[in-house]
Amino acid sequence: MSVEQVPVQRADFDQVMVPNYAPAAFIPVRGQGSRVWDQSGRELVDFSGGIAVNVLGHAHPALVGALTEQANKLWHVSNVFTNEPALRLAKKLVDATFADRVFFCNSGAEANEAAFKLARRVAHDLYGPDKYEIVAALNSFHGRTLFTVSVGGQPKYSDGFGPKITGITHVPFNDLDALKAAVSDKTCAVVLEPIQGEGGVLPAELEYLQGARKLCDDHKALLVFDEVQSGMGRSGHLFAYMHYGVTPDILSSAKSIGGGFPMAAMLTTEKLAKHLAVGVHGTTYGGNPLACAVGEAVIDVVNTPEVLAGVKAKHELFKARLEKIGHQYGVFSQVRGMGLLIGCVLTEAWKGKAKDFFNAAEQEGVMVLQAGPDVVRFAPSLVVEDADIEEGLNRFERAVAKLTGA
Ligand SMILES: Cc1ncc(COP(=O)(O)O)c(C=O)c1O
Repeated sequence: MSVEQVPVQRADFDQVMVPNYAPAAFIPVRGQGSRVWDQSGRELVDFSGGIAVNVLGHAHPALVGALTEQANKLWHVSNVFTNEPALRLAKKLVDATFADRVFFCNSGAEANEAAFKLARRVAHDLYGPDKYEIVAALNSFHGRTLFTVSVGGQPKYSDGFGPKITGITHVPFNDLDALKAAVSDKTCAVVLEPIQGEGGVLPAELEYLQGARKLCDDHKALLVFDEVQSGMGRSGHLFAYMHYGVTPDILSSAKSIGGGFPMAAMLTTEKLAKHLAVGVHGTTYGGNPLACAVGEAVIDVVNTPEVLAGVKAKHELFKARLEKIGHQYGVFSQVRGMGLLIGCVLTEAWKGKAKDFFNAAEQEGVMVLQAGPDVVRFAPSLVVEDADIEEGLNRFERAVAKLTGA
């Protein structure tokens, strides 16, 4: 028996949805690889990847297979029971990373919420109630719960909701002296994105992360890396911390880890994990069999030398062509990022107009992203075909030519 489907259109959004988003004028209905089709049958190249989520594109056979196989077996049991896909995925994450223990949840914000609560809990248990301060970076983004907007360094997301979580200091990113001045023996955690994503696709400098690690060790604070956007292959390494060789105490992962199925994880060591004893933290859906079955298929495909090397090679293809476009049309002052998380910084003349590039690109049949008002962001599938890269960037160039009147 199929569910009756009433026809809907974009205009319905404004009638039935809370107006906290402003979605594009078209509605995607189908995707395959790095192509998406809308209601009218128009085909677009997808370089947005559902905001750095669709790590293997749309309808990847390994993910569809894992999801449908699990859908016929067992969907949900809650954490009153454990389940096979969750245990298998946790083992894979432990084998592949610094971590000994995994906490599954459903979104980046929840993974960070767990990370921040764990950091405070550890400090509370070991050093008493005064060690609760968190030092984070200005212009960072960690999610939309009250704790995560408070740690995120962007007042536009945290103001206007009453009292914030206190004990949080923000310092400029990549400024080691500022970090040194902010960290003290009252600090329980330093929280950083190895590549600031929403803040403009800005990679951390190596010395900065090394310095952060040392400061944490000197002050008995924990180093928390938010790899919600940079993780699961996007940097060309399974996690970006591996590129830097700087190991955190706690790591949050979401977005790509589920390849499009909502899921997330917090990774940590055995020593720290024991502070989340039975009942201290939890979630109904975290580690759901459907999500973890997909997550297993994602890591099996992504964590291979071929896919990770492919990410680095595809980065070069994007970067060379985007630099050329930027130069030719005078629109980008810098093309930066790592792997398949790439940001094109708009020149002075185009500052604040990233949305115009998003709109122009969509009209030429290519989906891109913004990272703030001054950066055009690309976060495609890690297995995007080279032919799709070329076609998508041809379309993007046409969009830039139209926008600039060239
Ligand atoms: C670095 C980072 N952390 C956390 C989040 C929040 O993730 P979610 O929207 O899944 O809660 C995001 C989302 O963009 C992110 O980029």
